Amino acid sequence: MRIGIFDSGLGGLIIAKAIRKAMPEYDYVYLGDTKRVPYGNRSHNAVFEFTKEAVDFLFKKENCAIVIVACNTASARALRRVQTEYLVYYNKTRRLMGDHERKILGVLIPAAEEAARFRRVGILGTSGTVSSGTFLKEIKKLNRKAKIFQNSAPMLVPLAEEGERSMAVPFLKKYLRPILNKNIEALVLGCTHYPFFKKEIGKILGKKIKVISQDEIVPIKLKDYFSSHPEIEKKLSKKGTAKILVTDITKNVQVLSKKWFGKQKPELVNI
Ligand code: DGL
Repeated sequence: MRIGIFDSGLGGLIIAKAIRKAMPEYDYVYLGDTKRVPYGNRSHNAVFEFTKEAVDFLFKKENCAIVIVACNTASARALRRVQTEYLVYYNKTRRLMGDHERKILGVLIPAAEEAARFRRVGILGTSGTVSSGTFLKEIKKLNRKAKIFQNSAPMLVPLAEEGERSMAVPFLKKYLRPILNKNIEALVLGCTHYPFFKKEIGKILGKKIKVISQDEIVPIKLKDYFSSHPEIEKKLSKKGTAKILVTDITKNVQVLSKKWFGKQKPELVNI
């Protein structure tokens, strides 16, 4: 069985690349909902429906044992509901059919755990992630004294999807200014598209502020998860393959798949 990785668009590909680098032996399938990106300004219900459809597709059509929702917006606004309203029922019916149980993990809590080590933390995320308050809640659970300063950055996802890095700089400066005024020690890149701009963000922040980027955290956490859940790990096949699926083939999908996954051409799917 495979490891599925899902995002609204291309952001999760950065996470997929990092996970695969850390654990190249497994078989992966990436699903990017490039036709419906961005999710960041959608309602709770829309994000829930899209996430449920994507996970269902990865379980049923791609035989995934586990799906990583590599999207903060979906992790913040839909994950709990997908786990309680969809996965519980799905696993119950699978059990009756004598099939394996499946798992769904998000990317927000691993970043929140890292952020909770600091006293003053900035969060940059989509409007959906910021307004959900999920980062705030999760960090506060671990560090009551943490002071958290959030800002939404709506233009960054479309720019990342277009592969526009230099054009993002004025937007980055604008979105980061109110957070930087708060004397933060660390900044969470609270959207999987934002590591595209890691260099540009690093230049604006300077050396003193720690950048918390999920591509550096999620692979470590997933490895730990497999060590403590051998019942899941042993279901995973190990041929070292990777498949890229998207709901719309855009130019940047082709460029990045080629750059990061070699021969693997993106395939078009309907979910
Ligand atoms: N990569 C998604 C995230 O982490 C982008 C959300 C969007 O589609 O707006 O939130």
